[in-house]
Amino acid sequence: MKVTVIGTGYVGLTTGVALAYIGHYVTCVDRNESLIEKLNIGEIPIHEPGLVDLLHDSSSHLRFSSDFNLEEASADVILICVGTPTQQNGDADLRYVEECAYTIGSALPEGHEVVIVNKSTVPVGSARRVIMIVNSVLTDRGVSANLYVASNPEFLREGAALNDTFYPDRIVIGADEKWAVKTLYEMYAPILEQTFIPPAGLPRTDGQPLPVLVTTNPTSAELVKYASNTFLAMKVSFANEISGISERVGADITEVMKAVGLDRRIGTRYLGAGAGWGGSCFGKDLKALNALGKQYGYDMPLVDATISANYRQRRIIVEKLQQLLKVIRGSVITLWGLSFKPDTDDLRDAPAIEIAKMLIDLGARVRAYDPVAMDRSRREHQELNIEYADSPVESIQGADAVVLMTEWEIFKKLDWNQIVKCMQQPVLIDGRNFYNPSLLINYGINYVGIGR
Ligand code: NAD
Ligand code: UGA
Repeated sequence: MKVTVIGTGYVGLTTGVALAYIGHYVTCVDRNESLIEKLNIGEIPIHEPGLVDLLHDSSSHLRFSSDFNLEEASADVILICVGTPTQQNGDADLRYVEECAYTIGSALPEGHEVVIVNKSTVPVGSARRVIMIVNSVLTDRGVSANLYVASNPEFLREGAALNDTFYPDRIVIGADEKWAVKTLYEMYAPILEQTFIPPAGLPRTDGQPLPVLVTTNPTSAELVKYASNTFLAMKVSFANEISGISERVGADITEVMKAVGLDRRIGTRYLGAGAGWGGSCFGKDLKALNALGKQYGYDMPLVDATISANYRQRRIIVEKLQQLLKVIRGSVITLWGLSFKPDTDDLRDAPAIEIAKMLIDLGARVRAYDPVAMDRSRREHQELNIEYADSPVESIQGADAVVLMTEWEIFKKLDWNQIVKCMQQPVLIDGRNFYNPSLLINYGINYVGIGR
């Protein structure tokens, strides 16, 4: 099958490479020419485990282009994977998706049959909006084509993108026409039926059930995506809210949530309390769901509470530092980890970045060490004057406190005797409840977790 993917960010690149690996002929298009140049020489602009190797393994079925012309338009399926950032009113900004619709309409050849897919996270009605734009451009050109549209939301997690693409829990296809469902079924068949040979380093787990195919109308599929992200964010915010009361009454949130999650109706995942969620999507998608509610005059108090409980966690970290150090101005505070979670260099809405800003505003000197995200932080947050260190140990020389913000494995493998000696005061705030408190306390560290 011939597939064109527009937008080669986290979603588009992962999807394009995976579809090429399972045997399709894939063209990945991005209007960012320098990105395409990099991809053409086998370089990956993002940190995503396994992606460079898979790109090399799939290169015979993969091409990259910064243009979208006849060749790119003549595909069986065109996947739109561009960004949908937040507008000022919280709604998703559809400008890039709409640009794609114009581009597709301008290049489709006469009589061509194609399924156009919204894989970007888009508000309800976007499938209809895309097809309307493509049709109007075709009418202006006097061209007629057989168009089908589908909403096919993406559920991958950064840092685990390949695993989630090859072994998803479900694939959701929202389409009104059977042809669109049939074509997308064919495209995903090796994944739905798990007939591909697992890529090196990405084995299939024994007993893993086949992914479920969910077919819906486009509107339901669009809502599934927002509801899924909101529910996951709500679980984390719930755990964080319970962590506050847990701290006050003398419980340990990690024990509480472990036992809560063992009820299979609840599930153990996304109950980790700490500095809260960040990333490119939870915040943006919750705001977009809220904006949708407002358009219908419908309050969504759980969504509001999920957002406010989350951002409170960032302030709680700063408050803990104030309680421990008393005076923040002039203190040296080290952040271990900057990315919004491990195994990615993504800093969008990263709790560490906002906490760095708050501490700098309070007069602290902020130092940081992150195994992959420091280059990006230097580029994207020059205004912050963070001091970057070359190792975890270098980062804590003379520090008054260290805050574990991202649970990278490297922060487990440390010589704690050395850490205690190097710090001005051995204060450690564990923003991810990553460590065993008694172990660190035994080394003489003043350990403070979240909700424990
Ligand atoms: P991204 O910002 O990493 O990449 C988007 C890419 O699209 C950029 O490289 C940009 O240059 C390109 N682009 C924008 N307009 C274009 C156009 N008109 N023509 C060609 N290229 C264009 O975005 P992302 O993180 O991959 O997210 C894409 C969409 O997928 C968003 O809607 C997001 O909500 C959703 N999503 C993201 C994730 C994730 O983990 N990042 C997971 C699921 C869903
Ligand atoms: C999330 C969803 O998990 C994906 O299904 C979805 O496709 C994606 O958003 C999206 O739409 O972009 P992602 O943002 O990559 O994926 O990251 P997650 O692994 O879900 O983590 C999100 C945030 O929650 C991180 O900051 C993480 O540290 C935090 N988190 C997660 C917790 O604080 N506690 C937990 O127990 C779990």
